[in-house]
Amino acid sequence: MNFKIATIPGDGIGPEIMTEALKVLDKVGEKYGHTFTYTEVLAGGAAIDAVGECLPQETLDICKSSDAVMLAAVGGPKWDNMPGGERPERALLGLRKELGLFANLRPAMVFPQLADASPLKPEIIDGGLDIVIVRELTGGIYFGERGTEEGTPEGTVAYDIEKYSEKEINRIARVAFDMAMKRDKKVTSVDKANVLDSSRLWRKTVAEMAKEYPEVELDNLYVDNTAMQLVRNPKQFDVIVTSNIFGDILSDEASQITGSIGMLPSASLGEGNFGMYEPVHGSAPNIAGQNIANPIATILSAAMMLRYTLGLSKEADAIEKAVNTFLDQGYRTPDLASRTAVEAGDYTTTSQTGDLIASFITK
Ligand code: IPM
Ligand code: MG
Repeated sequence: MNFKIATIPGDGIGPEIMTEALKVLDKVGEKYGHTFTYTEVLAGGAAIDAVGECLPQETLDICKSSDAVMLAAVGGPKWDNMPGGERPERALLGLRKELGLFANLRPAMVFPQLADASPLKPEIIDGGLDIVIVRELTGGIYFGERGTEEGTPEGTVAYDIEKYSEKEINRIARVAFDMAMKRDKKVTSVDKANVLDSSRLWRKTVAEMAKEYPEVELDNLYVDNTAMQLVRNPKQFDVIVTSNIFGDILSDEASQITGSIGMLPSASLGEGNFGMYEPVHGSAPNIAGQNIANPIATILSAAMMLRYTLGLSKEADAIEKAVNTFLDQGYRTPDLASRTAVEAGDYTTTSQTGDLIASFITK
């Protein structure tokens, strides 16, 4: 089969890690008889520099006419002083909204080979950790009505509204329950229903949907408690479903407890199979251009794309297996290696990592 992929290398380490992910995809294509045709498009700081805006219309058009989108990372200090609405990160919000990517899947798993990297005590993550956060991505406070009023008696006042409809809650809850059915059949819905009306609607709507999934155990937790439970006993979680802002915060926390954020992929899905795939980590401008970034999160994002959008689960498995082979054979990028190893120059570079993982792809 032939697949059209829009690629957004973006900023910082983005271009380097994208190159490696495409290397691995090409190897999958060669072994399994597919062709991937890439169209590179601009977004983020690279787009600001080239055409003066972070998300050009051409980028959206090409993404919309592709089978899937791969994004590496956007943003960097160079653009930090720009007004909020023009910053590179804004491109992410625009892509999500324009492409209708309402469901964000952020797996947080500990690779057994890297269990030492977790900041949690071994007994807490013993036997591995495998959580998926399902974050609502196109609603809530990030997209709600907002405003700034200057010169009120209290000085300037600013507000952002958290608002959810049953329709929005239903479609994200459906993704979470369907995902749980393929996993350990447990959904934890996270809200702040002791305070917020929007959360009370969230909780009620999720509970209604749970009736359609009698095999799935549903738990409701407040977001503050969830933040504690994630470090106290993360193994209690299978699928966590939550709003845009809570998911933003909790997914960062969850990624840190794995200790290896350079390994974590993500998917942002729309209706149907369309999706955008990107690593959980950012553009790491401090190490850009040095061939030392870890490309594995982007490589694993490509695997998610094969599985969720292109319907190629055997091929996705092949990538995940190749990553495990890489780790089993003791290869470590600098973020995964010990300090002494890094100081001695004893680590695997970005391009070597892509080469090795591509070479471990088998049919
Ligand atoms: C993320 C990021 C973005 C978000 C920012 C950069 C807009 O933090 O993908 O989690 O908040 O969604
Ligand atoms: Mg975030």
